[in-house]
Order: sequence, then C-alpha cells, then structure tokens
Amino acid sequence: MVSEGKRVAVLVSGGGTNLQAILDAQGSVIRSARIALVVSNNPGAYALKRAEAAGVPARTLSKKELGSQAAFEKALDACLAEYRIDFIVLAGFMTILSPDFTRQWDHRILNIHPSLIPAFCGKGYYGLRVHEAALARGVKLTGATVHFVNEIPDGGEILLQKAVEVLPGDTPELLQRRVMEQAEWKLLPQAIELLASSEL
Ligand code: GRF
Repeated sequence: MVSEGKRVAVLVSGGGTNLQAILDAQGSVIRSARIALVVSNNPGAYALKRAEAAGVPARTLSKKELGSQAAFEKALDACLAEYRIDFIVLAGFMTILSPDFTRQWDHRILNIHPSLIPAFCGKGYYGLRVHEAALARGVKLTGATVHFVNEIPDGGEILLQKAVEVLPGDTPELLQRRVMEQAEWKLLPQAIELLASSEL
C-alpha cells in the first residue's frame, strides 16, 4: 500500500527559496512526507507563486488584517486542522509564534537558521544581519542549523547542522547565497525526512 506520508505545512514570508528546495525534494530526499499547505503572512511573498506553480494549496494570513497575534494563531490553527497537518516547517517565516502555540506543537515545528547555532542567533539575528555579524566577527566557518521551535527564539533542540566556509572577499550577500546553496537547501529537506520517518 502506498502511504502519502506525513502532511507538512510550510510557513513563509518572502522569496521562498527554501520552500522551493523542499518542493523539489519531494519524491527524492523527502519520501515520508508531502507539502500539503503553504501559509504566508505576507500577501506579496514570491513563495506563494512557487506554491501555486507546484500545485500546493496556499493561504495568506495577515496579522495586520487579523488584528492580533491571538487572532492570527487562531486562523492558523484552523488552516492546519483543515489540511490535517502533522508538522510545521518555518522557511523564512518572519513572525514569532507564541509560547502557547509552540507548546501545542512541541517537537513538531522545524526552523532553519542561517548560522551554526549558538553563534549569531536569537533576537535581532535574521536575514542579512546574521551574515553581517559573522563577517564582522571574522569567523572562518559559518553554516546553517535546523532546530525544533520552542518559546526561545532559535533556542529549541538542534536537529541538523552543516558548516560552510567563509571566503576572502565575502560580502553578506555572497555569504548568504553560499550558506543557502551549500547548507540550507540541502539540510531542510533532510530534516523533514528525518522527522517524518522517525518515531518522534
Ligand atoms: C533563509 O536564509 C532562512 O535561513 C531564514 O530566512 C531566509 C529565507 O529565505 N530563516 P527564503 O525565503 O527561503 O528564500
């Protein structure tokens, strides 16, 4: 019997290159799960177009329009229930989830962060800022981390990490791109398969 596997929701806010990596890995690296839903908190996110092109249902939930964090999470809960979601993946999702929400989904939410946690992580470390900080500190190795999400920003249990070299002449943009290509886009599909195929 062919099982369709665990049902994954990917939460996005922007370009969605990590979402694309996950979509492209379905059927190869990802065998025990399928992307059943994409949710964006930003109606203009290019990630929504990627979902549409892949034929995956997509919803936009704007915290601004819904009026509060609680209303946003209530609407999100309803979507997740409607699509019978087993796991959530945060792929460039720029909204912090409340402790109530993360407790309810304990060890069922993954996030990807573009550094080797515990370096350059936590409040204020997002997007290019992470790579700016790594270059300013002069580290020779950086990378990406997939971790479970709890109430501490970037503080949950680490599932996978991959190191990436910092090269002479790097700018934050060059380093960001190398970390994505060499680490993030590989690590996230692997982490999803690991979680979906495990007995956790
Ligand atoms: C990635 O660097 C990811 O690590 C971080 O946000 C960025 C999202 O990029 N959390 P994209 O939207 O997947 O292209």
